[in-house]
Amino acid sequence: MKKISAPKGMRDFYPDEYRVKQVLFRAWEEAARKFGFELYEAPVVETLELLERKAGEEISSQIYVLDKKGGQQLALRPELTPSLARMIIARQGELSFPLKWASIAQCFRYERMQKGRKREHYQLNLDIVGESSCMAEVEVLGAAVHAMHALGLNHTDFHIRIGSRSLLSVLFDSLGIAADHFTACCLALDKRDKISDVDVHKLLINENVSTGDIKKIFELLNIRSLEDVHRMLAGIEQAGPILDEITDFFELASDAGLRDYFSFDPGVIRGLGYYTGIVFEAFDRNHQSRAIFGGGRYDNLLSSLGGHNLPCVGLGFGDVVVTDLLKELGRCPGIQRFVDYAVGFMDIQCRPFASRVASRIRRSGLDCDLGLSGEKPKRFFSRGNRLNARKAVFIGPTEVETGLIQVKNMVDGRVRSLRLDESTDFKSVEVPG
Ligand code: HAM
Repeated sequence: MKKISAPKGMRDFYPDEYRVKQVLFRAWEEAARKFGFELYEAPVVETLELLERKAGEEISSQIYVLDKKGGQQLALRPELTPSLARMIIARQGELSFPLKWASIAQCFRYERMQKGRKREHYQLNLDIVGESSCMAEVEVLGAAVHAMHALGLNHTDFHIRIGSRSLLSVLFDSLGIAADHFTACCLALDKRDKISDVDVHKLLINENVSTGDIKKIFELLNIRSLEDVHRMLAGIEQAGPILDEITDFFELASDAGLRDYFSFDPGVIRGLGYYTGIVFEAFDRNHQSRAIFGGGRYDNLLSSLGGHNLPCVGLGFGDVVVTDLLKELGRCPGIQRFVDYAVGFMDIQCRPFASRVASRIRRSGLDCDLGLSGEKPKRFFSRGNRLNARKAVFIGPTEVETGLIQVKNMVDGRVRSLRLDESTDFKSVEVPG
């Protein structure tokens, strides 16, 4: 018979993998809470009209479009940001700003499969809406770094590259490149990780950028120091506030203890059309994979969708790349399964007593795996070992007759006798040597 497999690029989470995912989700939620973000959720299915944009972004061609239902063209979301914008706009009169929201969202993209790229992934989204100062960028990044720390990763394992679309725009301006080509140029340049410079060159030529200007653009992207940018833009009035903004950002990042993580790189552009200001991407130190997380400022998205003119900053932090990195570093958490108690019984006559023991354990606030059918002690204890049970109780005819149970410490084999009654609190049951 033909083997039935999951759709290509979609993932099953068997219990071992699910436990790893749970550790990650807990680290994400804890970081969001620590930094004052509130959790929210949006549907996986959205209208295609909301998700589709015409800016030439790769993501537009990766949308899983569903059959029309109830007269609406629906699709699986490739990212959460349009849904966030929709939710904010729907209640913009009632919400108080700035607001800080976080969500863990499953997203679907019909991508060419490579390392770190699946057709379905989970993303932590952290967004601040209604704040124009770069405190918003620093807080969003601080929360993401906190989550990385909670997973055991620090500045020796990853770094964050910081660019700025608005800065790049004034740099382009200073080179005489027409402003209406800017977004398309950004999207072409963002492909540099995926296609050769020759192909990027071709894309720019298609945008009517001259060969001389393309050469200057490539030179620009090699700059790594803000001082050089200051020198290049000296005397250009409109550059002042933009230079101040990125300088402030780096100062605030130092105050927040994040400076070691950041480097300036004007070549960080991002493949989504809506970013307007500071943009960022985190990579592992060896730059082996796609970005661990990425985001930036997107001040015009809400107004372009018919909402108020509210400044926004946010990021998406995927589960695939960080889990691969943890595995590569041998630091993948939560592989072992544990249960506080295993309870088993000899036969059907012993079952009611075993069932009472299990409910007492569970009411004490502990986890308990109760056998589903009668079994011999040897089989029960080896099952208890497989479950990684910390303690085990086996109910045979003697236990039923005397009302005394034997609590076995599965780590060292010690046993303690205990009389079960309604007040037995298994949390305080120690097994002394
Ligand atoms: P993005 O850069 O497209 O941004 O995705 C964010 C992160 O999600 C990536 O850095 C990567 O870790 C993960 N990711 C994306 N696509 C895949 C894939 N096919 N397979 C595995 N992981 C993937 C956004 O989605 C923006 N909406 C983020 C944002 C929120 N900007 C502002 N607020």
